[in-house]
Amino acid sequence: MQRRLLIPAIALAAPLGLASPAAAQGTLNLYCSVQIEWCQAIATNFNRDTGIRVNMTQRGSGESLAAIRAEAQNPRGDVWFGGTGDPHLAAAEENLTQAYESGNNAALHPWALTQWNQSGRRAIGVYAGAVGFGYNSELLARKNIAPPTCWADLADPRFRGEIQVANPNSSGTAYVIIATLVQLMGEEEAFAYMRRLHPNVNSYARSGTGPIKAVARGETGVSLSFVHDAVTERNAGFPVAYNTPCEGTGYEIGSMSIIRGARNIAQARRFYDWALTEPAQRLGFEAGGQLQQPSNRSAPLPPNAPDLGRIRLIEYDFAKYGRAAERRRLIERWDREVGSLPR
Ligand code: G6P
Repeated sequence: MQRRLLIPAIALAAPLGLASPAAAQGTLNLYCSVQIEWCQAIATNFNRDTGIRVNMTQRGSGESLAAIRAEAQNPRGDVWFGGTGDPHLAAAEENLTQAYESGNNAALHPWALTQWNQSGRRAIGVYAGAVGFGYNSELLARKNIAPPTCWADLADPRFRGEIQVANPNSSGTAYVIIATLVQLMGEEEAFAYMRRLHPNVNSYARSGTGPIKAVARGETGVSLSFVHDAVTERNAGFPVAYNTPCEGTGYEIGSMSIIRGARNIAQARRFYDWALTEPAQRLGFEAGGQLQQPSNRSAPLPPNAPDLGRIRLIEYDFAKYGRAAERRRLIERWDREVGSLPR
């Protein structure tokens, strides 16, 4: 799904009786891979703060990477904000994005800068989040199904047709899950596990948040998701809870990159600097209802957000699983051996 939003600067400036600064300040073409509420909040607030007009397109991480690749000879986007870190690393390696050093780097957590260093200064961390199991507590209680606490539980027949996860071709979340399983179990065992899981999966959604939204609506009992997305649904009033896997789990460094050949490079750098500031990073929760760990050290962890320091995380090998060829190979193997299997 692709959504576009044009923020008219004049509409925001007019009530203050100001002439529109948009013409002088120019335009930013923003590709956005977080949830739409957050994308809209950053577009609106950046426009309000700078007068720069924002054309925003929201797509999944895999879909944004595919679009940037397809447009490489004639780039239409300036900045790619958010989405899981692996496709940002792949884009850096494929020379689809460009190096930049912001004056705001010093304000960031070390993991955000690790991403920057590993990508040849082309991708920087803007948030982090861990993978786990979201579930509808009312639905599972009604069906008398105990919620999953370990990866091993999910392949149990009690979850037959009860689980949703996204498709790694479009969703960065789904790719993080595959890479996590490969790192936890070894590749052969991970693929055997995903084949065992397949009869329990009722659908491979396009977007990473599709499965947790289906859990919230009571359409499926369990989702494999970033656990901060489960809290977003619970805060919206749905009977959603989450567990993180007892064997350990993977995580994302949600990232930001400037697209190579960006037509609006001054505006792109201005946005990049702005997006790393504390007030901009607070918007994820305060305006967008999102509960990731912000990368700016002064931006607080939102209330009830999952605390990564208290989750059993694997040492996710971003350098290896962010490599373009590795990502492509694992997704193609998933298509062949898992996604195309009959149920
Ligand atoms: C949601 C999560 C983000 C994540 C993104 C990836 O917005 O809150 O933390 O980076 O999904 O989306 P995708 O559709 O690529 O899995």
